[in-house]
Amino acid sequence: MEDPIDYVASLRHDYVAQGLRRSDLDADPLKQFGTWFTAAIEAGIRDVNAMSLATATADGRPSVRVVLLKGFGADGFTFFTNYESQKGRELNANPYAELAIYWPQLERQVRVRGSAEKTSREESQRYFHSRPVGSQLGAWVSHQSEPVDARRVLDARLAEMTERFANREIPLPPNWGGYRVKPETIEFWQGRPNRLHDRFRYLRAADGSWQIDRLSP
Ligand SMILES: Cc1cc2nc3c(=O)[nH]c(=O)nc-3n(C[C@H](O)[C@H](O)[C@H](O)COP(=O)(O)O)c2cc1C
Repeated sequence: MEDPIDYVASLRHDYVAQGLRRSDLDADPLKQFGTWFTAAIEAGIRDVNAMSLATATADGRPSVRVVLLKGFGADGFTFFTNYESQKGRELNANPYAELAIYWPQLERQVRVRGSAEKTSREESQRYFHSRPVGSQLGAWVSHQSEPVDARRVLDARLAEMTERFANREIPLPPNWGGYRVKPETIEFWQGRPNRLHDRFRYLRAADGSWQIDRLSP
């Protein structure tokens, strides 16, 4: 195999799957997202709900990581995490986020930008208890984003938590729960030949209606 540094710049392919016209779009971007999400599921895409989440410190230094979309609707896009993680601390200081989700097989990207607020304890609780027991224990074990001395520290803490919560419901950790990103803009991107992709951005007006603009690729 060639040195990846030698060939990375030459990686390219055309985007040819399909076009996106204004007349294809639902007036409601959440409905449009639902249509695309269903198509992505039907295309059998692995980790179809994985999305990049960008946050920033109060003084504007960005950070990004992948999280899983766990709900969407008129009130926003939901994911779950540790509130004391880097992303949690950043959202606490600066409650704005952007999400980007990419479905390569469909040559589609969606971006959602807006303010982020915590889900209610009840909602976090409901989701937490729907997770496999191992994941629930994992949330108690991990001080997400903090340095940890060794793998064995995690293994020992898992054994401790397994014993502590044996034969009873595992409570929702106080530092764990959801965020909902309430969209101010939602952009739908469809890859096209010659890098002349189709982009449509929905912008929420003060009265709650959505203005749609085609953007240059
Ligand atoms: C496919 C995938 C899905 C992930 N889903 C989540 C998630 O839903 N919530 C979460 O906290 N971390 C998730 N992670 C881990 C995050 O990318 C990240 O490592 C972690 O949240 C710590 O981020 P932070 O230090 O920036 O806060 C996921 C990682 C991958 C690759």
